[in-house]
Amino acid sequence: MSKKVAVITGGSAGIGEASARALARDGWHVVVAARRLEKCQAIASEIGGDAVELDVTDAGSVEKLASKLERCDLLVNNAGGAKGLDYLRDASDADWEWMFATNVMGTMRVTRALYPQLKAANGLVINIGSVAATDAYKGGSGYNASKYGLRGITRAFRREEAENQIRVTEIDPGRVKTDFSLNRFEGDTQRADAVYEGKVNLTAEDIAEAVRWVASLPPHVNIDTMSVMPVDQAER
Ligand SMILES: NC(=O)c1ccc[n+]([C@@H]2O[C@H](COP(=O)([O-])OP(=O)(O)OC[C@H]3O[C@@H](n4cnc5c(N)ncnc54)[C@H](OP(=O)(O)O)[C@@H]3O)[C@@H](O)[C@H]2O)c1
Repeated sequence: MSKKVAVITGGSAGIGEASARALARDGWHVVVAARRLEKCQAIASEIGGDAVELDVTDAGSVEKLASKLERCDLLVNNAGGAKGLDYLRDASDADWEWMFATNVMGTMRVTRALYPQLKAANGLVINIGSVAATDAYKGGSGYNASKYGLRGITRAFRREEAENQIRVTEIDPGRVKTDFSLNRFEGDTQRADAVYEGKVNLTAEDIAEAVRWVASLPPHVNIDTMSVMPVDQAER
């Protein structure tokens, strides 16, 4: 494989899908990885990449992904999301466990598994965090905690790997109109639509442009953290 290889977790939809398309346009060979293999396959065939079935919460699935990759120059840890909007006093163990298993443990597991390829390439890791890792909000404690956790991973990993010329970037989106809220509210379209109604929203392509730009920089440049919000989201 002479082309540089980018692996995108959660590449089947939303920000991951848009990033896969943007990186492919920039000449990357993109590995589109998520649980919905058919969606990954459709995207990969359009952009000339590969599709891999991946559940970041499943160690065996992550190992299978790693065993298929001879090369990885860029890993975008994007798979993730939120569950519920309960106040802490009513917090659901299942919701918190889902968010930590996916957003925190999933990121650690995929990064660790692809580390040999990333080290060999002096690679770049882009973690899709959230502005929820800067300011907490009512009902957000579980999601906030998981994205604050992800920030801890990003910063420790950057320090650990700087001497190996591995770059580590956190891109923190604000409100982006994707299936994020639909998934958060388990398919409740009314609740999901209300998040975006009457507001200026980012598109997945806006965040993909940030991913594409970070990945286009020369190897001596490491973007640390980038927050990207719609114009009317001055308060997080
Ligand atoms: N939308 C926003 O407003 C917003 C704001 C800040 C941060 N973010 C972050 O941006 C990232 C992408 O979200 P999005 O807005 O694009 O939402 P989305 O449309 O719901 O996409 C989530 C993606 O994650 C994948 N995924 C979920 N669980 C997975 C698992 N266990 N293993 C592998 N893939 C998994 C899904 O694919 P499958 O279902 O096919 O597995 C899907 O491709 C998330 O980390 C989210 O927290 C979003």
